[in-house]
Amino acid sequence: MSNLEQTLSIIKPDAVERNLVEEIKNIFKKNNLNIIESKKIKITKDEASEFYKVHQSKPFYNDLCSYLSSGPIVVMILEGNNAVISNRKLMGATNPKEAEENTIRKIYGLSIDKNSVHGSDSLENAKKEIAFFFKN
Ligand code: CMP
Repeated sequence: MSNLEQTLSIIKPDAVERNLVEEIKNIFKKNNLNIIESKKIKITKDEASEFYKVHQSKPFYNDLCSYLSSGPIVVMILEGNNAVISNRKLMGATNPKEAEENTIRKIYGLSIDKNSVHGSDSLENAKKEIAFFFKN
């Protein structure tokens, strides 16, 4: 049975800076995640703090928000069958050192902070994150 979903993906500053945007987009496309919206933007630290609000109690929150606002990012809406979980499998574990072979973070990630991509962790958060970046 098909279960069409949308999820939010971000190509983070470390990957944009290394010109990996097209390579990463091709991985999504090859794995049946259609990129239905995409834009390259730079956000402020306040915006990053709002986006990552769920992590506000974590010790890494400040560095995380500084990092996401440190350079251009590419935000995308991915659509496909079970898009939330499909994208998370493709990304691999948060820490590239722990990510499985052939996942985006294993291939491109530099560290737990510079892990090249973000993806929504649930359908509920996907809806919130899409609305955050793509207000109609
Ligand atoms: P992301 O999927 O964008 O969600 C939050 C980010 O916090 C995560 O990827 C990591 O890049 C970053 N982060 C930094 N330190 C940690 C940590 N100890 N545990 C989880 N995430 C961390």
